[in-house]
Amino acid sequence: VSVRVQSLIDGLAAAGVDLMLISETVNVRYLTGYTGSNALALLGPQTRVFITDFRYVVQAAEQVNDSFERLQAPRDLIDAVGDALPDAPLRLGFEAAHVSVRDHSRLRELLPDEVELVGVCGIVERLRAVKDRDELARIKIAAQLADAAFQRVIGEGLIGRTEREVAIALEHYMQARGARRASFDPIVAAGAHGALPHAEPRDVEIRRGDLVVIDWGAELDGYCFDCTRTVGAGEPSADAMEIYALVLEAQQAGLAAVKAGESGRAVDAVARSLIDSGGHGEHFGHGLGHGVGLEVHEAPRLSQRAHEELRSGNVVTVEPGIYLPGRFGVRIEDLVLVTDNGAEVLTAVPKPLIVAP
Ligand code: GLY
Ligand code: MN
Ligand code: MN
Repeated sequence: VSVRVQSLIDGLAAAGVDLMLISETVNVRYLTGYTGSNALALLGPQTRVFITDFRYVVQAAEQVNDSFERLQAPRDLIDAVGDALPDAPLRLGFEAAHVSVRDHSRLRELLPDEVELVGVCGIVERLRAVKDRDELARIKIAAQLADAAFQRVIGEGLIGRTEREVAIALEHYMQARGARRASFDPIVAAGAHGALPHAEPRDVEIRRGDLVVIDWGAELDGYCFDCTRTVGAGEPSADAMEIYALVLEAQQAGLAAVKAGESGRAVDAVARSLIDSGGHGEHFGHGLGHGVGLEVHEAPRLSQRAHEELRSGNVVTVEPGIYLPGRFGVRIEDLVLVTDNGAEVLTAVPKPLIVAP
């Protein structure tokens, strides 16, 4: 049994269940290695069952370890869960954040009364938050691919290209270097559009003097990378430089505060207090950062509501921003590995303001 499966099983009692039904695709992948889109895993001290449909039987035989009993079911996999359960009273956990109301009713209908359904939150996500060596290696390669694509795009210049052209070039260069895909649709947002934290690239030309928020990442073997730089298309205004300096100061303070044992809330507060003191607290309306791994947004969070402590092996972003509606936005985002001694930055792109032609 893999370390991951064993850790999950070790956590079942604390979650108040005998068996756990894993249905969220990314969580199934994490525990079994299966990379397809339709599968369930049932896990307990004496149970390792993997269920998929006809389309994935061959793939599952290659990807899913022999310690699992592999079952083929009709495409609606929920219908097969009853057959895979031991014939005894038990508490069956399901992923409360991921099971639809329809599937829950269906389970209740199909399973005998002696099976109690118990909603469980975050049991796999908490394991995923601490990366092992293989996962880190993939994230680091994804970082290198993304960095190189960014340097190339910036080298080609920004002025006169549309936001969408730049976004497409970024995606293309990442894929050409070996990324599976972009880890999310890149954000390229010039001038006032940059004040939208999650702006969509437009068919609008970048003009001289614009600040351009570029937020991009590569995915490699399922693992994501996430980074933002705010770049000048030519020299930006003095106002813009001042805001840039404030965001950079907050970002560096946030990075310096990252350490195993600190709460996400404490790290967020270090960066946020600097932006508050600079008079822009109301222009920084999102959390300081988030975990990244198989998903681009995952546990743990760095935010005002994140009470949990960071652990060695977490991989998180540190990404303060200031967004001035109608004017411009600045965000600077690095991805870092949390260690007992502090943050190891995984991004190589420099942070002093880059001015592109
Ligand atoms: N790319 C989305 C984010 O930075 O959270
Ligand atoms: Mn991010
Ligand atoms: Mn980002």
